[in-house]
Amino acid sequence: MTISSENSENSENSENSVNPTASERSRLTADEKIALTGGRDFWHLHEVPSQELPSIMVTDGPHGLRKQSSEGDHLGLNDSEPATCFPPAVGLAATWSRETAAAVGRAIAEEARSQQVSVVLGPGINIKRSPLCGRNFEYFSEDPHLTGELATAYVDGVQEQGVGTSLKHFAVNNQETDRLRVSAEVDERTLHEIYLRSFRTVVTRAQPWTVMCSYNAVGGTLASENPFLLTEVLRDQWGFEGLVVSDWGAVADRGRAVAAGLDLQMPADPAGEEDLRAGLENGTVDQAAVDRAAGLVEQLIRRSVENLSEAETEIDVEGHHQVALEAARRAIVLLQNDGILPLDVPAGGGKDPGAGGSGTGDACTGPTPLAVIGDFAATPRYQGAGSSRVNPPRLTTALDSIRSLTGTEVPFARGFEPGKDADAGLQGEAVDLARRTAEAGGTVLLFLGLGEDVESEGYDREDMELPAAQVELLEAIRQVTGRVVVLLSNGSAVRLPAAVTAAPGVLETWLLGQAGGEAVADVLFGRANPSGHLAETIPLRLEDTPSYLHFPGDHSRVRYGEGLFVGYRGFDALGTEVAYPFGHGLSYTTFELGDLAVTSGADGLDVTVTVTNTGERAGRAVVQAYVSVEGSTVTRALRELKGFGDVTLEPGASEQLSIRIPREDLQFWSVVDGTWVVETGTYAVDVGFSSRDLPLRAEVEVLGDEPTPVVDTTWTVGEVMALPAAQAVLAPLFAQMPIAEDPEMQKMIAQMPLNRLSGLGGLDRAMIQQLVDAVNAAM
Ligand code: BGC
Repeated sequence: MTISSENSENSENSENSVNPTASERSRLTADEKIALTGGRDFWHLHEVPSQELPSIMVTDGPHGLRKQSSEGDHLGLNDSEPATCFPPAVGLAATWSRETAAAVGRAIAEEARSQQVSVVLGPGINIKRSPLCGRNFEYFSEDPHLTGELATAYVDGVQEQGVGTSLKHFAVNNQETDRLRVSAEVDERTLHEIYLRSFRTVVTRAQPWTVMCSYNAVGGTLASENPFLLTEVLRDQWGFEGLVVSDWGAVADRGRAVAAGLDLQMPADPAGEEDLRAGLENGTVDQAAVDRAAGLVEQLIRRSVENLSEAETEIDVEGHHQVALEAARRAIVLLQNDGILPLDVPAGGGKDPGAGGSGTGDACTGPTPLAVIGDFAATPRYQGAGSSRVNPPRLTTALDSIRSLTGTEVPFARGFEPGKDADAGLQGEAVDLARRTAEAGGTVLLFLGLGEDVESEGYDREDMELPAAQVELLEAIRQVTGRVVVLLSNGSAVRLPAAVTAAPGVLETWLLGQAGGEAVADVLFGRANPSGHLAETIPLRLEDTPSYLHFPGDHSRVRYGEGLFVGYRGFDALGTEVAYPFGHGLSYTTFELGDLAVTSGADGLDVTVTVTNTGERAGRAVVQAYVSVEGSTVTRALRELKGFGDVTLEPGASEQLSIRIPREDLQFWSVVDGTWVVETGTYAVDVGFSSRDLPLRAEVEVLGDEPTPVVDTTWTVGEVMALPAAQAVLAPLFAQMPIAEDPEMQKMIAQMPLNRLSGLGGLDRAMIQQLVDAVNAAM
């Protein structure tokens, strides 16, 4: 059986798939087919020697390779082969750069090829519903558009090299609390528009070789046994042509799972084979489902073997470090700056920015005494804990990089020990250093953040606070100097106390991978101009976040009560003040936007805007386009990100930027029609540099594709009267009624279903039906 691509929304890449013919598959024995639906061990699939199918290896992912040659585990406990550690998704997302995501994907694939790894288990694209999700560092954004675009670029980057990806965790895996059992209860529209939307984008545009189902249940059914997710949505609606693999240990019963659409249970589990055999015997599993699963595993193996047969064993270690460095530079978000940044390079200091430097190094402008304070400067937080942990061959620290860039032994004090209470000795030393630096007219660079024990796969954060010992240290330092630049390392939003937001310079550096130290130094000294933007809102308080009252649920059930209003959609709908809005990010230069033009065509909207660098330094501008529909017939967020692009400009230079908004990105999920619909109406496109800095607006008319409704007697008078075709039929009738002149009465009547008008104003059931028929005929 081949998987039909008839319903594929975009099967552009389908010609790359290797579909074994029916006769090839029929050569597999019944036992071989069953064996293929499960792993051979922790990281390998089964071989079938009679069919010359070797055992292939899959490996985490997503921000570097975690190939375990000895004992395997999925919790990041045992070591893996050295591999470049790129910025985790939290950092990659802050670049807002498809080009960067693709470059990282290509480099990871080269490493996978050199290690004979067939599939990289990533990217992870679940939506950041709450800042508390322990795995947010592995996910991109609170927004499905940004997530989908960057993940598509990453998947294309990896797969171009003949290595597969595993789009995970499908689906609605937005918390770690009770992750193996919890059922996510999400309304239909929110499910499609928010939680499945980015999966749809990546599946339809990039056809990942595999999709990994999540641990949790959705609507009461485990994702691994969920026919709605694994078959109806993924295959029938989106035309997915690849294989569905389970998350490690997500399968409770392989028979039920294969029947629902799962193809491969990982890791090895002999009980799974028994379950599948039992299902076949008792008729709850069709042989066709086993044929499908085994066929897709065979297809994956053949495709991979073909692609890996000529793989190089050498990789360009330095080149990949440079890719990681450029990604890290682009990921850093300048939250605020009163002019304290960039710092001057002390006289006599200054290294060559080197290959890949996007910076604009100043000439040396004289010494600025500096002090580096905070443990993270010397022992960086550069990735999260759990199955994604990479073992990098080298690791740069901010302290070393600052010393090497400035050519001076910049003094350092640890200030605190991550995960520990305030230490009077460490704090005292740091405050003394800050005082001496202030007396010499210098600047303190203070590195704060979350420890690895706080953010991890497997459990959620308890709060969104910076550790108290660090806040205490900052407050003590601020008693002796105001010249403090705060640099934050964390995998998801933290609450920023007043002492942080009052600092003259604040950089959110997220988690930056192995080259983060150099990237931080380059940005501090203006060798690179910061261009990262927030992929998640930084709220003022946890209590303000839209999911607050509904996270993480109880009794293994979590109700997504905020509905569509996740992240900025919720903050904007309520007008809630935030610390920094979604999309925010400053630069050392200034940009201006002009000449906005939006045209509406059959394929979507075309946005053009002129970007001018009005400042003194070269830099990259990230331009964002948000769409809203005035007077929409359905509940909508105030505005939604639907397009973005970037352009790098020299001082004074201008360039026209084009942003395409494909028609499918204008769709909403109609619960009435059970399908995606573009609504007819006036669409506003707001363009700017963050969700709350949108200086330009243009409006266009869009002709929708709403299915012609079939009116029946359960419709209200108001609903029927809203149809232009109905007005001509019904208006004369209502004009004769005494209510015609009474606006209150009209409002009341508008709420009444037609079938409740029987007996009123001389109407009976037959007349009402005639009216309904007349309305339907008029449409
Ligand atoms: C994680 C997956 C990972 C797998 C294999 C699981 O615990 O949820 O993301 O790919 O382990 O390590």
